[in-house]
Amino acid sequence: MASVILVFFSLIFLHTLTPVNAQTGGNITIGASLTAAENSPSWLSPSGEFAFGFQPLKNDRELFLLSIWYDKIPEKTIVWWANGDSPTAPRDSKLELTANSGLVLTNPQGDELWRSSIIGTIAYAFMNDSGNFVLFDSSSMRAWESFGNPTDTILPTQTLERGWLLSSRRSETNFSGGRFRLRLRQDGNLVLTTINLPTDYANEPYYETKTNDATNTSSNGHQVVFNQSGYLYLQLMNDQRLPLTRRVETSASNFYYRATMNFDGVFIQYQHPKNSSGNEGWTAFWSLPDNICSASSVSASSGTCGYNSICRLNGERRPVCECPRGYSLIDPNDRYGSCKPNFTQTCEDDELGRSPEDLYDYEELTDTDWPTSDYELLTPFTEEGCRRSCLHDCMCAVVIFRAGDMCWKKKLPLSNGRVDSNINGKALIKIRKGKVPPNPFDRFPDPENEKKRKSRENLIIVGSVLLGGSVLFNFILVGSVCLCFFCVYRKEYKPIPRNDSVAETNLRCFSFKELQEATNGFKEELGKGAFGVVYKGTINHTGSTILIAVKKLNTLIHDGEKEFKAEVNVIGQTHHKNLVRLLGFCDEGLQRLLVYEFLSNGTLASYLFGELKPSWSLRTEIALGIARGLLYLHEECSTQIIHCDIKPQNILLDDYYNARISDFGLAKLLLLNQSQTHTAIRGTKGYVAPEWFRNLPITVKVDVYSFGVLLLEIICCRRSVDMEINEAEALLTEWAYDCYCEGVLDALVEFDKEALNDMKKVTRFVMVAIWCIQEDPSLRPTMKKVTQMLEGVVEVLVPPCPCPFNATN
Ligand SMILES: *[C@@H]1O[C@H](CO)[C@@H](O)[C@H](O)[C@H]1NC(C)=O
Ligand SMILES: *[C@@H]1O[C@H](CO)[C@@H](O)[C@H](O)[C@H]1NC(C)=O
Ligand SMILES: *[C@@H]1O[C@H](CO)[C@@H](O)[C@H](O)[C@H]1NC(C)=O
Ligand SMILES: *[C@@H]1O[C@H](CO)[C@@H](O)[C@H](O)[C@H]1NC(C)=O
Ligand SMILES: *[C@@H]1O[C@H](CO)[C@@H](O)[C@H](O)[C@H]1NC(C)=O
Ligand SMILES: *[C@@H]1O[C@H](CO)[C@@H](O)[C@H](O)[C@H]1NC(C)=O
Ligand SMILES: *[C@@H]1O[C@H](CO)[C@@H](O)[C@H](O)[C@H]1NC(C)=O
Repeated sequence: MASVILVFFSLIFLHTLTPVNAQTGGNITIGASLTAAENSPSWLSPSGEFAFGFQPLKNDRELFLLSIWYDKIPEKTIVWWANGDSPTAPRDSKLELTANSGLVLTNPQGDELWRSSIIGTIAYAFMNDSGNFVLFDSSSMRAWESFGNPTDTILPTQTLERGWLLSSRRSETNFSGGRFRLRLRQDGNLVLTTINLPTDYANEPYYETKTNDATNTSSNGHQVVFNQSGYLYLQLMNDQRLPLTRRVETSASNFYYRATMNFDGVFIQYQHPKNSSGNEGWTAFWSLPDNICSASSVSASSGTCGYNSICRLNGERRPVCECPRGYSLIDPNDRYGSCKPNFTQTCEDDELGRSPEDLYDYEELTDTDWPTSDYELLTPFTEEGCRRSCLHDCMCAVVIFRAGDMCWKKKLPLSNGRVDSNINGKALIKIRKGKVPPNPFDRFPDPENEKKRKSRENLIIVGSVLLGGSVLFNFILVGSVCLCFFCVYRKEYKPIPRNDSVAETNLRCFSFKELQEATNGFKEELGKGAFGVVYKGTINHTGSTILIAVKKLNTLIHDGEKEFKAEVNVIGQTHHKNLVRLLGFCDEGLQRLLVYEFLSNGTLASYLFGELKPSWSLRTEIALGIARGLLYLHEECSTQIIHCDIKPQNILLDDYYNARISDFGLAKLLLLNQSQTHTAIRGTKGYVAPEWFRNLPITVKVDVYSFGVLLLEIICCRRSVDMEINEAEALLTEWAYDCYCEGVLDALVEFDKEALNDMKKVTRFVMVAIWCIQEDPSLRPTMKKVTQMLEGVVEVLVPPCPCPFNATN
């Protein structure tokens, strides 16, 4: 019994695997039909070499193509399909051969998708061994044939008449109409052209036989012939032949031949051994044009590849399209499509104070050109001048420097891009420095995270009670012990050459009234800090309106006018991409205001501790940016600056999510008259180095300490002190060290998949942070060392415990 069932099932199984062919010896009678389904019957030619029927799409098995294919070879290569522009039919669509309408394709709902256009009445149909599907009328005249309605392929014994064309598919697997066409024009010229979809508009040919002499029509093209022995030629009016295929090597009877207008624009003739015993598939043995990348240069289209792309010929004379560095595909699934730059090129003056040299770099491409995108020629010109000219021209996307003194400036979109050794020039493509994360934010918390948070909340009350005492104690400690420390420059303050003006730093001196107007009467408050309130405003800067942030300092310095200017000058001389730029100031009576560039993306704190967390890769970039900014303040600017208040609220993010340190230089500024004002501890609870509480000199190492705390916050996306978490985790510095010692660093980034996949870097960053938060300032590395360790260029040694060092004393 069991074996009977087994046999029964294996029969069914075999049945469904083996295509069933409704056959006929090539003849199909009126009323015959086919259904779109896997392994449904198809109509075979007498020898079985060609089949007519439904083939499922390779990438969507619910869609079918009514088509003709080689049935004896494993590839089942399609040579014709119905309904050119929307060729796919859903599963269970039906094809019927009718007397009055010929072939009629309907979807499962019964709506007509396609029909063969015929004249007269059909008697029967025939699938020929040549691959031609023919409808005959009652007098055995051909009423319709697939050879008369070609798609992208021509077969032996098929001809193309004047006005006929082959049209490429959209892609290897998408059979909708593509961009490339082979056409025998009415005038006899055989051409290859691109068309501008969705219209039929044909651009200038990228190949032509020029057999269209209007004064002597005898030598003009008449017919494209693909003869039985595998030769393709253009039959001329005078019966001469213009050979296309030069040579067919093998005896035609052992091979299949086809010539196909490929989706990448190359018209190729292929052969395939009829013997399927061999593993050999289709091989190309002739193609047009010789070099599609340099052949096509058309004025109203992108060329072979998409816009801003570069065409390069591979070993098989097929085009490979590549985006230049700094550009990426608009549709990542379409390798032949257009590319977009990873920045927006604009002539808006939004990058205040940053020179083009700071913003852009050139990528040098040899033998590359986009011949149809020029807008200006400068000659004679030097290469240096050419480089500078494009950098300072906001329209300019690329310059080509050629022939020693010619500078061609090109604009977007770049078209007809190609690599070609004949170009003999150097293309310089402008790319934006720094990283623009395409999608900088991961969306977590996810539901899992939320659950975890809920369970944590039960611990909050216990935690906060337990911890409350110690924090209060800390506060008292901070408040009482440290009333008289202040931030000083480690190096003796070297007065900069002072002529009582700050003109040399390009700082603008604003009147109070100007700033009052700029901020609309100090209306829109951006934030409040230790130093005062910040307002949003707009000013005119070199002809365009730009946004500014105006900081109104609340601690007035009665007699420090000179010092104020000197300090402002120190700040104004700083110039680094990780610092917020000071544009100007106001020093009028008791009013002291600083005018900064406005950064659109707010503070790091709002991202780190908000809903949308920056991704791990962006966080590492931000951490490095802050480290580099601090390194500059400590070691690279003309006067050393100790920030004294590094915390996420003082890190701003620009349009490209570059970290920009703000409020630097203010510690000194506001402590100038520290003897008269109430002196609070500089810096912010949670980030301040222990030397503030002890009788120790204040050095750059206080910033290193704060950076360490900030680095941990960046790694973990949480505040350094979080009373809402259980006691073991409430203090980030302690928890991080515990996790490090116990080897469970993944707990620090437990909801961040990207970071969890990058634990090597997480570990390195945590180790650097632990070095930074050492109690003993001399153990803390310099910012230079920190930067190198973060970058991974120097090894990070195992850090000691950042325990209070009086305990070890
Ligand atoms: C196909 O049908 C036509 C017309 O009925 C007939 O003349 C022809 O011989 C048939 N061919 C085959 C192979 O059956
Ligand atoms: C089938 O094709 C051959 C060429 O391969 C041709 O000679 C013949 O006439 C065709 N038959 C029909 C019915 O079209
Ligand atoms: C083929 O490409 C066209 C145009 O891009 C698109 O509209 C169509 O959905 C694609 N068809 C399939 C089956 O992917
Ligand atoms: C036309 O072209 C043919 C072939 O190129 C040539 O033999 C013939 O002399 C030409 N006739 C005229 C009128 O130029
Ligand atoms: C096909 O064309 C080639 C070249 O014109 C010729 O040598 C060959 O004899 C032709 N074969 C047939 C079957 O007509
Ligand atoms: C086809 O296969 C047969 C037997 O397998 C072999 O003798 C013959 O040489 C093959 N022909 C070609 C063209 O490979
Ligand atoms: C753009 O891409 C280039 C090269 O891929 C890279 O060097 C540069 O940093 C990127 N610029 C931005 C703004 O992402």
